[in-house]
Amino acid sequence: MPVFRRVRGMRDFLPEEAQIMKYVEGKARRVAQLYGYGEIITPVLESYELLAAKAGEEVRSRMYAFKDLGGRRVALRPEFTASVARLVATTLRNEPKPLRMFSVGSLYRYDEPQQGRFREFWQSNYELMGSSKPEADAEIIMLTNNLMKAAGLKNCVFRVGHVGVLRRILSQEKVEDKVQNRIMQLMDKKEYDDALELVEATGVSEKCLMALQKLVKVKGNKFSEVLNEMEELVEDYESAVDAVRNLREVLELVSESGERIDMMVEAGFARGLEYYTGMIFEPYVPEMNIALGGGGRYDKLIELFGGEPTPAVGVAHGIDRIMLAMQKQKATLKTKEEKTVAVIPIKEKLKGEALKISRMLRDADILVEVEVMGRKVAKALEDADRRKIDYAIIVGEREMREGAVVVRNLGEREQKTVKIERIVGQIKGQN
Ligand code: HAM
Repeated sequence: MPVFRRVRGMRDFLPEEAQIMKYVEGKARRVAQLYGYGEIITPVLESYELLAAKAGEEVRSRMYAFKDLGGRRVALRPEFTASVARLVATTLRNEPKPLRMFSVGSLYRYDEPQQGRFREFWQSNYELMGSSKPEADAEIIMLTNNLMKAAGLKNCVFRVGHVGVLRRILSQEKVEDKVQNRIMQLMDKKEYDDALELVEATGVSEKCLMALQKLVKVKGNKFSEVLNEMEELVEDYESAVDAVRNLREVLELVSESGERIDMMVEAGFARGLEYYTGMIFEPYVPEMNIALGGGGRYDKLIELFGGEPTPAVGVAHGIDRIMLAMQKQKATLKTKEEKTVAVIPIKEKLKGEALKISRMLRDADILVEVEVMGRKVAKALEDADRRKIDYAIIVGEREMREGAVVVRNLGEREQKTVKIERIVGQIKGQN
């Protein structure tokens, strides 16, 4: 047999890393609860058509797509939003709004593996359906900041923009949606010169080209000033002015909430997915130049999937990247310290007693590893020590006759004989 290796871009999480991943997942779930998002679990496999509809060329071309044995065209999900929108267009069609939904799980994209970029990765995803109000956008930004803080991350900066500004100018100039999508893809990759060349090739007015050339350079961390500048540049495009005003409302609300978030507002900021219609954002930490998450408003997707017109806003956080950022910033996990116990029988015939004591301890919510290698006590103790177990319970014949065991504190290298009914209290520090 060949030596089997992991498929390129896939991930194994050994206990230490799995613990961090579950820790972040736990924080994400808590944020969902704090904001009233109900958890939903959707399939990893969806119809290709659904996932491809508005994913944007970048994601679409990297999907794990295939035909199942029944000849259906399917794909592994590259994101959650399409699945949640499908639910809202179908099963949840008549649910009262707003609908707040949370998901966490693995996603698949045939990206080029590199730091923070995998072909299998994890997201925590939040969708708020049914509100077109800026307070909904503000909520999504705020909950993202909550998660970053809960993960122990510092100095987060949010890149913020509004796709409506560019798109509405282009629409007013009669640039087709398809071409707009290509322009936005280029902007997403910060290839502004190519994007502007493409705009020029569509034959837009000189005025439009001039405005866009200036617009893509406008950015700064004082949102009010940046938005004033943007508003001036787009003044001939009424609906683009509305977009800037909408972004202003969102950012003012975030600011009024008292949630302190460092923002970098960028007029030329675009995101690869095609469904966005409004505010968009991505959180970063200074140690990494890849986004820890991404989100925004998408008001047309549910309708496109055959549902009722439903405005929506959402975000997904890259758990793998949050973990990487935690590592870079040396963020520590705040977990409950729990004592661990190894139960070691001295003799073969005491195995049953050892299992019984283990069971009793676990019933009292104590973490127990029972000796299963048949080793001598000294060897088993050495191993428990190596693995930083707190206590060893040595089950010996002599003590058992008295209804007792030896409890050894491995850290302090002390031991004493303890009656079986008192072990729990002893370990929990109650006697
Ligand atoms: P996205 O920007 O494609 O948005 O992905 C969100 C986050 O997932 C990224 O910022 C990144 O942290 C993580 N991510 C994406 N690709 C990879 C990868 N190959 N390896 C590791 N992490 C990755 C969405 O997925 C949208 N559905 C977000 C959204 C929800 N918009 C509205 N609602």
